[in-house]
Amino acid sequence: MTTGVVVEVDHPLVRHQLGLLRDVTTPTQMFRQLVNELTLLLTYEATKTLADEAVEIETPLERMGARRISGKKVAVCPILRAGVGMLDGVLSLIPGARVGFIGLYRDEETLQPVEYYVKLPNDIADRDVLLLDPMLATGNSTAAAVVTVKEAGATSIRLIALIATPEGIARIHAEHPDVAIVVASIDRGLNEKGYIVPGLGDAGDRLYGTK
Ligand code: URA
Repeated sequence: MTTGVVVEVDHPLVRHQLGLLRDVTTPTQMFRQLVNELTLLLTYEATKTLADEAVEIETPLERMGARRISGKKVAVCPILRAGVGMLDGVLSLIPGARVGFIGLYRDEETLQPVEYYVKLPNDIADRDVLLLDPMLATGNSTAAAVVTVKEAGATSIRLIALIATPEGIARIHAEHPDVAIVVASIDRGLNEKGYIVPGLGDAGDRLYGTK
């Protein structure tokens, strides 16, 4: 079986911000800010493999060879609702990206994803997709979101998550080995309620101050 690419970003800034994010005493406003900053750092890593090409430019002093991003444009697709907290982090690096939304919630009893809203760029087939889901837990909702963007025509998909579990990564790669995964941390696993441990709790609640 082909195994997919997973990158656990190993960087002092990422480790520092992740520690603050996990801390139960971190207030909502700071949590939101940290999610943005951390996503920006993960986006830097996730876009490392975007195609670029040689161009000739002129500096004030002379002509020189430079590089510019070539090929596909980007579609950023946060999974509602917690993925929206990551959106600005991506857009601060790729302001011209189109944005699609995938509304999924996790049924707390069955842990199965329920789709309630989908709005994607109509040219998503021609774009590199960055799927945003802060917590890759069981992988159920993320796998459903991957199917949704693939059914819309996407063929190039990268998933950016803050924290993942080994089983969540295995689930995505068993069904979608073509999806590259970039995370700040791969945690120990899931508890009996489906929360990532040690994790950071419910990302949506911590982002939006709900309970
Ligand atoms: N979703 C979250 O927000 N937190 C978890 O720990 C698992 C899924």
